[in-house]
Amino acid sequence: MEADILKKAIKLSKDILKMVVENGDIAVDCTAGNGKDTIYLSELIGKNGKVYSFDIQEKAIDNTKKALMEKELLNRTVLICDGHENILQYVKEDIKCAVFNLGYLPGGDHSITTLPQNVIKAIEGCLELLQPGGIITIVCYTGYDGGKIELNTLINYLSNLDQKKYSVANYKITNQINEPPQLLVIEKHKQG
Ligand SMILES: C[S@@+](CC[C@H](N)C(=O)[O-])C[C@H]1O[C@@H](n2cnc3c(N)ncnc32)[C@H](O)[C@@H]1O
Repeated sequence: MEADILKKAIKLSKDILKMVVENGDIAVDCTAGNGKDTIYLSELIGKNGKVYSFDIQEKAIDNTKKALMEKELLNRTVLICDGHENILQYVKEDIKCAVFNLGYLPGGDHSITTLPQNVIKAIEGCLELLQPGGIITIVCYTGYDGGKIELNTLINYLSNLDQKKYSVANYKITNQINEPPQLLVIEKHKQG
């Protein structure tokens, strides 16, 4: 049976990344968590690429490291136990994509969450580093304290990005009763 056309936010984010990211590219996972997105990116960038992966929690960096080792992908990644808002201190090369999966660490302390002011600072850094044609995907959850404010703050900020340089999209399944995650995507135009 063929898959539905309308996808969940995470699946759509992955499909968009797959269309853009190529072997040898540089990618950034701004919220490593348990490493699923870092693994996905490490597979997309291939042997010649590199993934920078950030998280503020040592537990998340350890979980990501273990997950990468199991898949023999650790040598394609640079794991950084620091906030994504400090991205420009660590990443000194152009990037093809950046990925955010906001909220708290699944299986971890639910009171440690991403914060909109840090995410915006990180996005600003990513926009400086992003190659023309590059993509930033942000999966936002509204079902926990602070999640709705975070989403609205980001939509507000992103809606004011210069349309000559960027396109911004907001994807949401509107008829689902249990607050589904939403996807924000920023594309840097090839010619701006
Ligand atoms: C929903 S989880 C990420 C899930 C992950 N992408 C995965 O595939 O398993 C969100 C993560 O963001 C992290 N985080 C919170 N604030 C952060 C910050 N300022 N910089 C980097 N990571 C942060 C949390 O510690 C948490 O692990």
